[in-house]
Amino acid sequence: MQTVLSGVQPSGSLHLGNLVGAIENYVKLQEQYNTYYMIADWHALTSRFDVTESILPAIYEVTATFLAAGLDPEKSALFSQSQVKEHAELHLLFSMVTPISWVERVPTYKEKLQNASADLGSYGFLGYPILQAADILIYKAHKVPVGEDQLFHLELTREIGRRFNFLYQKEVFPDCQAVLTQAAKVPGLDGRKMSKTYDNGIYLRDTPEQILQKCTRQMASDTARLRKSDPGNPEVCNVYSFHKLFSTQEDLAEITEQCPKAGIGCFDCKKRLAEKVTERVEPLRTRIEGHLANVPHLEAVLQKGAEQARTVACTTMAEVRDAMKLLSY
Ligand code: TRP
Ligand code: SF4
Repeated sequence: MQTVLSGVQPSGSLHLGNLVGAIENYVKLQEQYNTYYMIADWHALTSRFDVTESILPAIYEVTATFLAAGLDPEKSALFSQSQVKEHAELHLLFSMVTPISWVERVPTYKEKLQNASADLGSYGFLGYPILQAADILIYKAHKVPVGEDQLFHLELTREIGRRFNFLYQKEVFPDCQAVLTQAAKVPGLDGRKMSKTYDNGIYLRDTPEQILQKCTRQMASDTARLRKSDPGNPEVCNVYSFHKLFSTQEDLAEITEQCPKAGIGCFDCKKRLAEKVTERVEPLRTRIEGHLANVPHLEAVLQKGAEQARTVACTTMAEVRDAMKLLSY
């Protein structure tokens, strides 16, 4: 069976885009692969080393969301990165074989350095992709579900793995492949990509009232449709993009028929959308809150996942030390 690994940074609440784009895909993959889903808390530290108190609650929240969405600790190892110290060891060894120019040319690196409000001038932030390579290669993952923004990190991961194999004349690491999270990305309320940074998201812990408010007040419709009596065009309407993801074929047919002849008003259309989104989110929200009320259970899930992950990580590290002719541990 092939191995899948992915990681999520613990950075506050997850939104619909995370669910539809990533987590639902994780759930499917656990049926066919050996799956590792990691909460990248060390990665969070690369930019938030000064506000560490928000990390643990975020770890619980991601864990609760994983469980609520259907990830099964019997099928997938769910753990946090910092509980498997071997990631740090492999990161250190990889940092020896990775030329600085390889990490400096990561496109997101310079861009983030310039735009970020946090102080990203640290050594750890430069090493972000090397740590990510260690996360992936320590489990010899074949497939890595990620968004497009992570493709360069995967390219670098392959290069580091190949360089290691070449330097020490041993095929320790396989090539890994990205499994691109489908373009079925959920747009944000404003039509841009749904993102925490843009504050344009519907969060999985939003209540039905909050969802209704966001849909009716914050979501943009066809901006050319000023009055209810004006005809609208669903194809240029963000509300309709959401309907496509959450409503039934019959609803879609009705909207495409009624909207261009002003037979349905935007407010009603948005209210209907809010109902559909709520139908999808509310059961999940209840489960998330239930899991969050039981932190000892969440901790036990992470412990168990970390133990499983550690066994594999330790085996790989023994091979790595052997290939590098280091003392065994
Ligand atoms: N860098 C990833 C992100 O920001 C998170 C991550 C850390 C990751 N380690 C990983 C993703 C390993 C895939 C594999 O989304
Ligand atoms: Fe968009 Fe619906 Fe208004 Fe048409 S009726 S413009 S699809 S919100």
